[in-house]
Amino acid sequence: MTSSNTAQAEGPDAYREATTLELRRVSKTYPGSDRPVISDLSLEVGAGEICVLVGPSGCGKTTAMRMVNRMVDMTSGDILVGGRSVRARPAAKLRREIGYVIQQIGLFPHQTIGENVAAVPRLLGWDRRRTEARVDELIALVGLDAELRDRYPAQLSGGQRQRVGVARALASDPPLMLMDEPFGAIDPINRERLQNEFLRLQGRLRKTVVFVTHDIDEAIKMGDKIAVMKVGGVLAQYASPAELLTAPADEFVEDFVGADRALKRLALLRVRDVDLWRAPLVREGEPTAAARARVAESDLPYPLLVDADGRPLGWLSERDLARERVRAPADSGPEPVVDRDAVLRDALADILQAGTQYAPVVDGAGGAVGVLSIDVVGHFLAQGDTTEESPSARAGVDP
Ligand SMILES: Nc1ncnc2c1ncn2[C@@H]1O[C@H](COP(=O)(O)OP(=O)(O)OP(=O)(O)O)[C@@H](O)[C@H]1O
Ligand SMILES: [Mg+2]
Repeated sequence: MTSSNTAQAEGPDAYREATTLELRRVSKTYPGSDRPVISDLSLEVGAGEICVLVGPSGCGKTTAMRMVNRMVDMTSGDILVGGRSVRARPAAKLRREIGYVIQQIGLFPHQTIGENVAAVPRLLGWDRRRTEARVDELIALVGLDAELRDRYPAQLSGGQRQRVGVARALASDPPLMLMDEPFGAIDPINRERLQNEFLRLQGRLRKTVVFVTHDIDEAIKMGDKIAVMKVGGVLAQYASPAELLTAPADEFVEDFVGADRALKRLALLRVRDVDLWRAPLVREGEPTAAARARVAESDLPYPLLVDADGRPLGWLSERDLARERVRAPADSGPEPVVDRDAVLRDALADILQAGTQYAPVVDGAGGAVGVLSIDVVGHFLAQGDTTEESPSARAGVDP
């Protein structure tokens, strides 16, 4: 955040409300062609939601997006932004109200980064001070160094250019953002960072976003809702990521989400979402008879030694129970310990990595609250549960 007064007046709390978007039976046939590229497409996007359009190349994702800001005219049907038809206002005005991050970024090469970000505010006739303050604010908001402001796009890395593209689209604080493969041209590591940054930003800004990708993993990560499209602009399924992975509508969607869809679901869940095993907790110095009784009542063959505050110290073996009273084992610390707020996929990876079958689960204070076992994860996947949360919550954003 910048410290400028103008920027503060427009700080995050003053951001404009998101808006709803609805496509009603929209079709598009390009002139000179007899086949529609978009066929009877209907979608509703709630205010503040990220809707991802995903599908193979040429299925009409870019076309669908461009009809929203009228860069492409629909042949039939209607599109409503905030309940009003996009045809009810002049196209130029509409476009200034909708942020647009285009495929291949599309920065103006002969303008500096600052000038690029200022493009829409200038069109809107903002005065210089307000525009400058906004540019500073946005450059900071998307995580760019202030010194990049006076450089030209060719002097930036691919990831930096993508951030500029996002900053430019956010410049007029539009209630609706269209993002066409915004992270498409970026290496996997920077792409993941940009995705996380965007979700964190979205946790604060709560824009209504239409996000195009052809990468199903990106769709699952970014979307509140995902529209899977087939060539011809036919909607194959419109559902939440969890629904899509649990109940694909047809073979096309099933193929598109991939054979590992069960594993992908683990990325949508937290450890706390599954039924944990009760751990037989024991403390040093207590009678081993009591410890054995607790093991007999629990789901596990071994007791978990905890300290006075209930923090796990290690698993005990038969030998540790050989005496009259519980003794701490020589080697310390159960490996791994997983946090109840961890993403289930990461927790499972930790358990597999450690070559064990289960791990103690701890709460924020480090106290043991149960045990996660590979069996539980397998059982959970077999159930087809659809528990889930929003992408920004998954990204660890406190709304
Ligand atoms: N201006 C145009 N005139 C005629 N046909 C077009 C035009 N623009 C796009 N098309 C055709 O419409 C279809 C959908 O194109 P579109 O760009 O919407 O696909 P896409 O899903 O965004 O693909 P990609 O993933 O490759 O970006 C394609 O067959 C394309 O050739
Ligand atoms: Mg496209």
